[in-house]
Amino acid sequence: MSRRRLFAGLMSGTSLDGVDAVLLALQPEGPLRLLGHVQLPMPAALRAEFAALHHAAHDELHRAQLAGLELARLYAQAVQQLLREAAVAAGEVDAVGAHGQTVRHRPDCGYTLQLGAPAWLAEACGITVVADFRSRDIAAGGQGAPLVPAFHRAVFGRDGCDLAVLNLGGIANLSLLHADGRVLGFDCGPGNALLDLWAQRHLQRDFDAGGEWAAGGRVLEALLRRLLDEPYFAAAVPKSTGREYFDAAWLQRMLRGFDTAQPRDVQATLAQMVAEVVAADLRRHMPGARELLVCGGGAANSDLLQRIGRLVDACEIVGTESRGLQPQQVEAAAFAWLAARAIDGLPGNLPAVTGARGPRVLGAIYPA
Ligand SMILES: Nc1ncnc2c1ncn2[C@@H]1O[C@H](COP(=O)(O)OP(=O)(O)O)[C@@H](O)[C@H]1O
Ligand SMILES: [Mg+2]
Repeated sequence: MSRRRLFAGLMSGTSLDGVDAVLLALQPEGPLRLLGHVQLPMPAALRAEFAALHHAAHDELHRAQLAGLELARLYAQAVQQLLREAAVAAGEVDAVGAHGQTVRHRPDCGYTLQLGAPAWLAEACGITVVADFRSRDIAAGGQGAPLVPAFHRAVFGRDGCDLAVLNLGGIANLSLLHADGRVLGFDCGPGNALLDLWAQRHLQRDFDAGGEWAAGGRVLEALLRRLLDEPYFAAAVPKSTGREYFDAAWLQRMLRGFDTAQPRDVQATLAQMVAEVVAADLRRHMPGARELLVCGGGAANSDLLQRIGRLVDACEIVGTESRGLQPQQVEAAAFAWLAARAIDGLPGNLPAVTGARGPRVLGAIYPA
């Protein structure tokens, strides 16, 4: 019998909330097992620096390297804590899949950029690191995103039934696993990104816990119509986006003429926008969906889930914990799984999702 193999996954997404680290045991046969999960918040200064690096800035090449190194230190700390808690030695881990922090995602220009100093991380952990998962897919003509649908299919897919998986991170993305085997996946648009931004501005909190503030607001119909007119929402798939597009400047443009609106009503309207976009995407691409599995930090936003639920009432909404992975573990687990694919020389992308010319082995490998 071949031995079980261990892979760690490190995710720091567009929300800039922090690092999720998981340790997975993969067996040649049988389901994967989660051996640990560590969450480390991103220090405020590093968060501010990454937010700034999403746009052209003074001395940005140097600053980007320093921010990447600081993230690598946070990654290393997360790996060490993960190994300590799971009582596993570094030498037992086959590889770490480190997503890095996206600061520019420009498939339209032929590139995407994730910072995270993988060479430094390999040196610090003494474990092989796989990083830069997205560039090869873009080089092959794809969007480089989303990459999670292949993992969603591997862990959540069931033969013969339609299943939709919604990841509510800073950006919201859908994986649509059709009963006939077809898989679609794309970024719908903003998930938590604008909700966080508005809550930070008006509540001085990182996010609107449970969506309670939004729940007490009134949807501003005129504003909602303007938001939903955003061309990205109607654009054909494959498509992907980032917080360099759906940012404070985008929101400011949309809010022109709504200066007297109550901040709370704006929050409710932004939440409604996210729900309407997701529901429209589901209707367009998987009208027969009866189950929507939700992951990402937004799975804890019950107001947002209720708004989605009211628009897709034929579809049951359940968190991924019902399938053995907590919502906040799914993306990190995907990058542990993608690291295993890279080490095994197996493709990680789904060309039908990203639009790449074909399946590709993803990632750059930094040996231990
Ligand atoms: N209790 C909660 N209520 C509402 N939203 C939450 C809650 N917990 C987390 N979130 C949201 O989830 C986000 C983090 O989700 P995550 O999946 O890590 O996104 P990303 O992949 O973009 O980092 C937070 O920024 C916040 O918007
Ligand atoms: Mg996160």
